Amino acid sequence: MSARPQHLGWFAARGFGPQGWGTSAWDWGYDWTRPDLYQEAVRSLEQAGFDLVIIEDAPSLGSPATIDLRVRHAFGGPKHDPLLLAPYLFAATSHLGIVPTVNPAAYLPYTAARQFASLQHLSGHRLGLNVVTDTGSARHFSDAAQLGHDAAYNRAEEWLSGIRDLWRSWDEGALVADPDGRFADGTKMRAIQHRGEHFAFDGPLNAVPFTDGEPVIVSPGGSGRGLGFAGHNSDVQLALAPLDEASVREYRGRIHEAARAAGREPSDIKILFAIQPVIVDSAEEADRIVAASLHPTEDVLRQIAQKQSSDLETDLTQLDLDRPLDLAAFGEHVSEGSIRRLVKKHDVATTPLRTILASFARQGRITDRSGFVGTADEFTDLIEELGTWGNDGVLLWGDLHPANVRAITDRLVPILRRRGILRREYADGGLRANLQSF
Ligand SMILES: Cc1cc2nc3c(=O)[nH]c(=O)nc-3n(C[C@H](O)[C@H](O)[C@H](O)COP(=O)(O)O)c2cc1C
Repeated sequence: MSARPQHLGWFAARGFGPQGWGTSAWDWGYDWTRPDLYQEAVRSLEQAGFDLVIIEDAPSLGSPATIDLRVRHAFGGPKHDPLLLAPYLFAATSHLGIVPTVNPAAYLPYTAARQFASLQHLSGHRLGLNVVTDTGSARHFSDAAQLGHDAAYNRAEEWLSGIRDLWRSWDEGALVADPDGRFADGTKMRAIQHRGEHFAFDGPLNAVPFTDGEPVIVSPGGSGRGLGFAGHNSDVQLALAPLDEASVREYRGRIHEAARAAGREPSDIKILFAIQPVIVDSAEEADRIVAASLHPTEDVLRQIAQKQSSDLETDLTQLDLDRPLDLAAFGEHVSEGSIRRLVKKHDVATTPLRTILASFARQGRITDRSGFVGTADEFTDLIEELGTWGNDGVLLWGDLHPANVRAITDRLVPILRRRGILRREYADGGLRANLQSF
């Protein structure tokens, strides 16, 4: 029996910015503000047969009081706008889907519908949109934009359905395109008058209809409300879950149920599990990396403290590593969930901070499913096994840098191809067609 083919995506996890600042990859002489670096990376991903690249984003640098923690090592920003990087990546490729992250708080629906329609046409129907509802960024756009978690999802649904109404405001036959006669038939265009809770606008849209479908909608939210959003709206769901059979099946089941509840087919949503693999040449090398990760150097601990300080907007780098973490260090702006993600299962009253930080350095082997360090063969076994549980694909998580991309694709792609897991050719019709081709 041949293996079930899988969709592969790349998640540029630190956005369009100085991702990985200070690491040796930057000594290649690239300029992160220029498109060349990303263009070279996406050319490799296209040659490798990936379906799509998703570019993370957060429009905000975070709270003004702790901004230095965010920018000091460029963990939290700056980030340029990935929507505007997209045309450069389309220009460097022919088949790859490009998926910038967008936050509905930042764009009025009519502007968004028109910009996305333009990019969908310009790219040959290769645009996707990773729709996120991060509430921390909203204050940059307007006072009215600030909403709670579920309300931000409600606004996102209104935003997207308004955009879709605009995209569909040209009825069948409205675009005539007769070179000897009419270009369009205005009697077949709908005025659209949207008067909703968050938005009010009129149509129709000043852009022609699509020949190969609307831009692909991607969503990453894992809450009940987030899955509900995916069930109604998404073509691709990004999943973060443990990769044992029960967890994978359970996560997929919840998405499929959400799709059915919205009157859609489970197969309408491709689920991609996010994985950050460390692909090495031999099992011995993998074992060595895992063993070393149990005893992180001071340098590694310092980098982890810097990253956590940025994410939690609280300076952990000044604390004594050999004493338990004093929860008073966290301001009110830090959610309990974020602190729980830092502390995990440790007893915070007795565990030295060093032990908590060291747990973030710990790596595991692919072979015993304790982590993602392994050879290309071992990683391929994992992807193949996910396929046997009905899975659609995986999202490889890392910086969008040629050195990083090639370190993974050079080893992995030939083996995935040999085992029939990775596509050898693209479908006609852009990103949607590729996602639907198996
Ligand atoms: C793979 C993955 C990628 C994500 N990318 C982004 C992103 O680019 N920007 C962002 O603001 N949030 C991003 N998120 C976070 C989600 O948008 C969301 O805030 C988070 O999952 C919480 O949503 P929930 O409450 O529905 O679970 C990502 C989450 C995952 C799992």
